[in-house]
Amino acid sequence: ELLGSLKVNQGRLMEDIHHTCQWGTGQRWGEKPTETGMSRLALSDADKEARDWFVKTTEALGCQTTIDAMGNTFAVRPGLRNDKPPTFVGSHLDTQPTGGRYDGILGVTAGVEMLKVLADNWVETEYPVGVVNWTNEEGARFPISMVASGVWAGSIPLETAHNLREVRGPATMASELSRIGYLGSTPSSHTSIPMGAHFELHIEQGPLLELANKKIGVVTGVQAYKWLTVTVKGRDTHTGTTDLKSRADALLTASKMVLHSHKLATANNALASTGIINAFPGSTNTVPGEVSFSLDIRAPQDETVARLYQMVRNDFAKIAAGHDVLACNASCTPGLPCSVSITEDFDSPATTFHSDCVSAVSTAAHAVLGSGAHNQVMQMTSGAGHDSVYASKRCPTSMIFVPCREGVSHNPAEFCKEEDCALGAQVLLQSVLRFDRL
Ligand code: GLV
Ligand code: MN
Ligand code: MN
Ligand code: MN
Repeated sequence: ELLGSLKVNQGRLMEDIHHTCQWGTGQRWGEKPTETGMSRLALSDADKEARDWFVKTTEALGCQTTIDAMGNTFAVRPGLRNDKPPTFVGSHLDTQPTGGRYDGILGVTAGVEMLKVLADNWVETEYPVGVVNWTNEEGARFPISMVASGVWAGSIPLETAHNLREVRGPATMASELSRIGYLGSTPSSHTSIPMGAHFELHIEQGPLLELANKKIGVVTGVQAYKWLTVTVKGRDTHTGTTDLKSRADALLTASKMVLHSHKLATANNALASTGIINAFPGSTNTVPGEVSFSLDIRAPQDETVARLYQMVRNDFAKIAAGHDVLACNASCTPGLPCSVSITEDFDSPATTFHSDCVSAVSTAAHAVLGSGAHNQVMQMTSGAGHDSVYASKRCPTSMIFVPCREGVSHNPAEFCKEEDCALGAQVLLQSVLRFDRL
């Protein structure tokens, strides 16, 4: 039928990706686009430019845009009937400090490409369709990932999000939203901006599709994770005069904790990672008396994350007190005890996507790939968090993954082949059209 024959325009999609990537590279407009990285932290000037492009482009395509109190930007194209909430396509335009051109960006630009295909072909959908750009999905600048879809879903209080301070600097989300003109007046809530469904196209960010030689991942859910800040307190002392037994070295102690959390996670089929570490006072010749570091714990099941968290709490207390939890303690001279405190910053429980959306994606993938589909499509869960986690708390949701080179993401070398970007966008378009007709 006609709708099945609608095709995304690969060249136009790639142009949009690279066009939006002029903001956040330091590369000047007019210079040849490269396939390399992005640094577009949430609510930066570059993010504002990309947001302005999103608003201007979607409005020119006949959408009405709404900006909510978290800066989430919803563009809606009316349907034949408007008595049901729109089916949304969503992702994010912010990136990691050393990010790539596909994580998040592909999902938003594929949504815009969907709008262009519908407009070009004069398609009227049964119900409205929309594209949403979620704020600060990365959690890189403001350290809660998916924070703005979390507020929309009612899982994170608006105040918590507005008061969230940037990792390096004094600005808050509220002050930066207001500075760039994206502190919208519409409440950030699924009741004021309801969704009929949420579909998200994303690069896999891992190696599974590429290794299995598959083209499309039908995503059935997302693993659980928990973010902690660990603070170790010892004593500032002189590095040249303080013997090892008289030191309370907060950094040495923190290092043992990082290593130990890695060992615990490995033994429990989980992951534990530290990405931020701050040592004070930060002087070559002072033994650091205070260290804080981030800990990101992930596993497929909530119980595994909870269990690992308990083990980490218990063992970090022992490590701080100077007990031999670690093999390396045997060869370390024990110093004075430190203290440790842990704050729980954020939890993302394991998510299972709605079977209606999962089957819409699966059916769309099979229709798009035709006879080769059985070799090219695979069901999988996501190791990374996505705004679809929170969307799924309020409406049927699922995701489409496409392979990325060597599974590399959160890195300027992140790369997704043009034909894979377009194939994913095609499956996205067909998923939305199928869901519209359900
Ligand atoms: C969210 O982007 C996460 O997986 O950290
Ligand atoms: Mn992403
Ligand atoms: Mn990311
Ligand atoms: Mn993510």
